[in-house]
Amino acid sequence: MAGTPEGKILVVDDKANIREVLSAILTEEGYEVRTSSNANKALEEIVTLLPDIVITDIRMPGMDGMGFLRAIREMDMDIPIILITAYGSIESAVEAIKIGAYDYLTKPINHEKLKIIIKRALEQRRYILENKYLRQELQEKYSFCNIVGSSKKMEKVFQMIKTISNTMSTVLIQGESGTGKELIARAIHHSSQRKEKPLIEINCSALSEGLLESELFGHEKGAFTGAVSRKKGRLELADGGTLFLDEVGEISPRLQVKLLRVLQEKQFERVGGIEPIKVDFRLITAANKDLKDMVLKGNFRNDLYYRLSVIMIRLPALRERKEDIPLLISHFLQKYSVREGKSIGTVAHDAMNILTKYDWPGNVRELENCIERAVVVCNSERIMTRDLPEEIQESSSEKEEKYYIPSTKVEEMDLHKKEKELILEALRKTGWNKAKAAKLLNIHRRTIYNRIKKYSLDLFLGK
Ligand SMILES: Nc1ncnc2c1ncn2[C@@H]1O[C@H](COP(=O)(O)OP(=O)(O)OP(=O)(O)O)[C@@H](O)[C@H]1O
Ligand SMILES: [Mg+2]
Repeated sequence: MAGTPEGKILVVDDKANIREVLSAILTEEGYEVRTSSNANKALEEIVTLLPDIVITDIRMPGMDGMGFLRAIREMDMDIPIILITAYGSIESAVEAIKIGAYDYLTKPINHEKLKIIIKRALEQRRYILENKYLRQELQEKYSFCNIVGSSKKMEKVFQMIKTISNTMSTVLIQGESGTGKELIARAIHHSSQRKEKPLIEINCSALSEGLLESELFGHEKGAFTGAVSRKKGRLELADGGTLFLDEVGEISPRLQVKLLRVLQEKQFERVGGIEPIKVDFRLITAANKDLKDMVLKGNFRNDLYYRLSVIMIRLPALRERKEDIPLLISHFLQKYSVREGKSIGTVAHDAMNILTKYDWPGNVRELENCIERAVVVCNSERIMTRDLPEEIQESSSEKEEKYYIPSTKVEEMDLHKKEKELILEALRKTGWNKAKAAKLLNIHRRTIYNRIKKYSLDLFLGK
C-alpha cells in the first residue's frame, strides 16, 4: 500500500520466523513495522520510536512479555499491547490483560483475527488521544467561565463578553431554550468590575404579576395582605452589582412601565411606599422569544426594548454550530464521569456519528442531559450507541424508515398510499398531536414531520 502508513507497530519476538511473518502481513496492510528480538532493547527503542501498537511474545529469554508489559505501563505510555501466547498458557494471558494488555492471540496466529484486533486497538488509541487533546484544549483555549465552544459564532460571543464586561450598558441575551443564556449572563457579571458585588437573578416567568412586583421592588409593611414586615426587593439587593432578569418577555405591560421608569430615573419606590430609593445596578436580561417580534406584534413596549437591548447578544442554536458538539461532549463526559466515579473517556465512533448528526432541538441542555444519562447507564469505558436515548438513536437516518406495515399483501399495495393512510389515521386518532402519532406508529418525530410535508397532510387537518 502506498502513501502514509496506517500506524507504527513494534513486533517483539525472539523467533526470527515469527518476526518475519508478522512483519510481512502487517506491512502488506499498510502499517510501518519495526521488529526486535529482545524486550530489553525494545524498551529502549520505544521512547524514540513511539509506536502506536506493540505486539509481543510472552515467553522470551531475558525479560519476558509480562515484564515488558509492566515496564511499558510504568512508563505511563498509552500504547495498546497485544500479547502472543502459546496455546495452553491462557492463564498468563488473562493475567496480562489484568495488568493492562489490550488483547492476546494464541499460536498459531490467526492472521485475520490479528488484523481485526490491530484495527480496533488503533481506533481506540485514536479516540483516547483525541479526547486527551480535546480536554487539554478545552482547558487552555475554549473555555471561558465554563462556557465551552470553539466555533466562530461562539468565539464572537466570548469576544463580545470581554469587550462589554466593564461598561454599564444593558445587555439583552436572546437565544432558544438551552443555548446557555444564563451561563452567559453569569460570565458577563463575573468578568466585570462588579464581580465582587452581588449578582441577583430572577426568573420573570416563574412568578405571578403581584409576586414579581414585590420581589423586584420590595414592599413596605402592610402594603398588602400578608406584608407583615418591610422587605427589600431585588433591585435594592443588586445595588452595586448586577441584576439578571431571565425570561424578560414575560413581564406584564404594567410592570414593563415600572421597569422602564427605574431604568430612566435610577430610582423607585417599594410597593406601598413613597420614599424614593436610589439604585445603581447593571441590568442583564434574557429571552428565548424574539423580543423584537413581540414589539412588532404589540406585546412588548418598544421604548423598553430599546433600553434593554443597548448591547444585544444572540446565542446561536446548537444545530448552527455543530462543530462545538465534540468539545461539549468531552466537557460533559468529564463532568459526569467524575460525579459518577467512572472512567469513561471516549465515545464510540458510531455513537459520535449519531450525536453530531442529531439536530438538538433542546440545544446544549438536551446534549448535556443525554451525556449525563449515557454516563450513568454506560457499563464500559466508552459511550456506545446503546447508551444513547432511543429517540436520538432513531434519528440516525438509516433507522428513519422504521414504520409499521400491517398488511401481508405487501406486493399488492401501493406502499406510499398505505403509508400516507397510516400516518393520517394516526394523526386523526391523536387529535393531530404529531409526537403522539409518531409514538403510535413507532417512528421518529422527525419522520412524521417529513411525511406530513411529503404528502401535504396539513391539507387534511380538521377534515
Ligand atoms: N457553551 C456551553 N458550555 C457548557 N455548558 C453549557 C453551554 N451552553 C449551555 N450549557 C449548559 O446547558 C444547560 C442550559 O443552559 P442555560 O440554562 O444557560 O440555558 P438557557 O439558554 O438559559 O435556557 P432556557 O431558555 O431554557 O432558560 C446548563 O446546564 C448549562 O450549564
Ligand atoms: Mg435560562
